[in-house]
Amino acid sequence: MKPVLPCLLAILLGACASTPQQASVKNDTLYQRLGGAAGIEAVVDASLKRVHGDLRINIFFENTDVPDLRRLLIEQICAASGGPCVYSGRSMEEAHSGMNLSDRDFDIFVEDLIAAMNEVKVPAPLQQELLGLFGPMRPQIVGQ
Ligand code: HEM
Repeated sequence: MKPVLPCLLAILLGACASTPQQASVKNDTLYQRLGGAAGIEAVVDASLKRVHGDLRINIFFENTDVPDLRRLLIEQICAASGGPCVYSGRSMEEAHSGMNLSDRDFDIFVEDLIAAMNEVKVPAPLQQELLGLFGPMRPQIVGQ
């Protein structure tokens, strides 16, 4: 067997020597790995800036209280990622009711979110974890 193979096997089995620091990163909540409150605020601020500059969807936000939306988005992401927050906003159905959002609107919103996460340098695996939390909300948001 080539020497690389045992190590590869060890990695697959999770048996590779890991420092205590690596072990703690593995157990940290998504909230902690995103950088806690400051990390989430950076993602939300960069996202809102992009959404408001995006001619394809910014019309939906023309009557929105942006500081309030910012606060609720931060709260929602914090709570969903295992952070010490309680989401105090409306349900997704209620918040988006009357907007009749399409799948395309939803995809554009996600596109802006991904661009924002790239901008603030959220690592790709964490982006996937965050999108995994919010992707399933599509049916509660589209067509309401
Ligand atoms: C995963 C996707 C989404 C999430 C997690 C999300 C989350 C939220 C949250 C937490 C609120 C505040 C709730 C409240 O006011 O009580 C909100 C409001 C709002 N969302 Fe979304 N949203 C998503 C997708 C979208 C999309 C695709 C659009 C439009 C393109 C949109 C437009 C709005 C608008 C305009 C408001 C403000 C409503 C108002 O002013 O009353 N959202 N959203």
